[in-house]
Amino acid sequence: MTTMSKRTALITGASAGIGERFSHRLAREGYNLILVARRRERLEALAESLAGKYGVDVRVLSEDLGDPQAPSRIIDQVQTWDLHVDFLVNNAGFAAKTSLVKSEWPELQQEIQVMVTALTELMIRFGKQMVSRGYGHIVNVSSLAAFAPTPAGMLYTGIKSYVLNASESADMEFKRSGVHVTALCPGFTYTEFHDVQGTRDLVSKLPSVFWQDAETVVDAGYRAVLAGRPVCVPGAFNKTMGGLSRILPEALRYRLGSRGRIY
Ligand SMILES: NC(=O)c1ccc[n+]([C@@H]2O[C@H](COP(=O)([O-])OP(=O)(O)OC[C@H]3O[C@@H](n4cnc5c(N)ncnc54)[C@H](OP(=O)(O)O)[C@@H]3O)[C@@H](O)[C@H]2O)c1
Repeated sequence: MTTMSKRTALITGASAGIGERFSHRLAREGYNLILVARRRERLEALAESLAGKYGVDVRVLSEDLGDPQAPSRIIDQVQTWDLHVDFLVNNAGFAAKTSLVKSEWPELQQEIQVMVTALTELMIRFGKQMVSRGYGHIVNVSSLAAFAPTPAGMLYTGIKSYVLNASESADMEFKRSGVHVTALCPGFTYTEFHDVQGTRDLVSKLPSVFWQDAETVVDAGYRAVLAGRPVCVPGAFNKTMGGLSRILPEALRYRLGSRGRIY
């Protein structure tokens, strides 16, 4: 049975980690889903399982958000399906494996394309549609790294700071029309992120107090956007770390960052 009268959520990076957990949560809340990532087989397996478990309509879009045309194709496909997106989770992301000097430009360019350009295009183009309907929710996945001293040779923290600022700015404008945007800023979360980045051995040394599971992160983000909170740092430990980071003097932030990456 299809359930097309329900609201629709679109989740990027739904094939793993935080995006996969968001897909479970939004299906449980009764949303029909559009799942986006590159690995089609994973998306199809997830779609089948969620449709069976929650009785929602789940569609799959295998797209590489590093392709500048991908957001347009996604928006066109949603229109072709005669759907509109009521809940957008801009979650897809990764961090470059090496430093600015050691990386090849295409890898850095992909970081910007996936987490800045594609995220922004989807937020603004779907956001404008939500504004015209007077209803909608957007969660942009930033990071606690947006508050922390930026480590030497990383674009990632600058990108996540952008996501935080762009989300706040969009929320200030969109909320006048009943559309809420939240920057979700998790700390270390148990997903495949550090395996993809190649830093699993490094971060495994961190004590368990630094870590959260993806379900906890998703629950905090979901509740924050429903409550109209523009920034969500999940967990008391992360809130404390984020708050302390914000009041560090600039010279100390620079010195700490210069020591290199801890993630
Ligand atoms: N885990 C952490 O400690 C942590 C902390 C703070 C913030 N975050 C942020 O949380 C978000 C989700 O990460 P995660 O921890 O869940 O990592 P993950 O388990 O590695 O999942 C990343 C997701 O992004 C998708 N993705 C990556 N590149 C893509 C591309 N070019 N096109 C389309 N999809 C792409 C992947 O799907 P495919 O490979 O199938 O394309 C996957 O579904 C990211 O934005 C990350 O920066 C993570």
